[in-house]
Amino acid sequence: MTRILTENAEFQLLEALRHNRRKREQRGEFIIEGVQAITRALAAEWPLRAGLVPAATHRSPWAEACLAQVDTVIEIRPDLFARLTAREEPPELMLLGRIPAPDLAAVPHHPDGVVVVLDRPGNPGNLGTIIRTSDALGAAGVLLSGHGAHLYDPQTVRASVGSLFALPVVPVPSNQALIDWLEQWRATAPVTVYATDEHGEVPLSGAVVLSRPAVILLGSERTGLATALAELADVSLAIPMAGSASSLNVAVAAGIVLQRVMSSVGGHG
Ligand SMILES: C[S@@+](CC[C@H](N)C(=O)[O-])C[C@H]1O[C@@H](n2cnc3c(N)ncnc32)[C@H](O)[C@@H]1O
Repeated sequence: MTRILTENAEFQLLEALRHNRRKREQRGEFIIEGVQAITRALAAEWPLRAGLVPAATHRSPWAEACLAQVDTVIEIRPDLFARLTAREEPPELMLLGRIPAPDLAAVPHHPDGVVVVLDRPGNPGNLGTIIRTSDALGAAGVLLSGHGAHLYDPQTVRASVGSLFALPVVPVPSNQALIDWLEQWRATAPVTVYATDEHGEVPLSGAVVLSRPAVILLGSERTGLATALAELADVSLAIPMAGSASSLNVAVAAGIVLQRVMSSVGGHG
């Protein structure tokens, strides 16, 4: 057990992990908060550096059981602890998780699987929601291309509601690495790559049958899919829209297309 009772260097580092992605990457650590996220991180045996708790505060049996699973506990002066969370009511426990090295091989090449590729997501809430949705609907993994919202931003972690710990979610180091990963899969299975684009060629009407295995490409909120990614697509799908909106939120588009691909029978449609 260690204690942080002043705004010392260790506290400043923890505070920086909240806001500063470079610090997170340098240290290889990020903050996990929320009952579901903590429970699922522990269930997945996610690598952890420590449990963080407010000093001299009563802890629930749940918090004690969680702390029994971590090697190091850091007690923090309550007013300082409160500065580590955006919540109005500080939680009784947070975890300090380790950031794993990105490993594309962690996203499996299932013969019937579906993988979501997200291009430069600008909003960590959208990123977390897409991870949660991909997990809920049965995708095999999520790949992140380009420089977008940080996977280990507290808002991403919060919006994923723990699915980040259940599903392989991997930032790809380059387009070439993504192309190689796709080629390897294609050598073993007839993968269809679906781009999604509000101006896509194929309207996703009820009659359209999608096939698995599949990759679903989703564009960034601001500029849509990068050309280099769009060129990988076999089909560009447009979800029909009524009304005056120019496009759907990317997480909503992800949910609609994923649901359609997952409920397809498999094989080429
Ligand atoms: C907010 S949109 C991007 C809008 C952006 N202004 C653009 O130029 O493309 C973000 C992503 O959501 C997906 N998307 C949004 N609406 C869609 C629709 N109607 N059909 C298919 N995909 C859609 C696409 O992947 C798109 O790149």
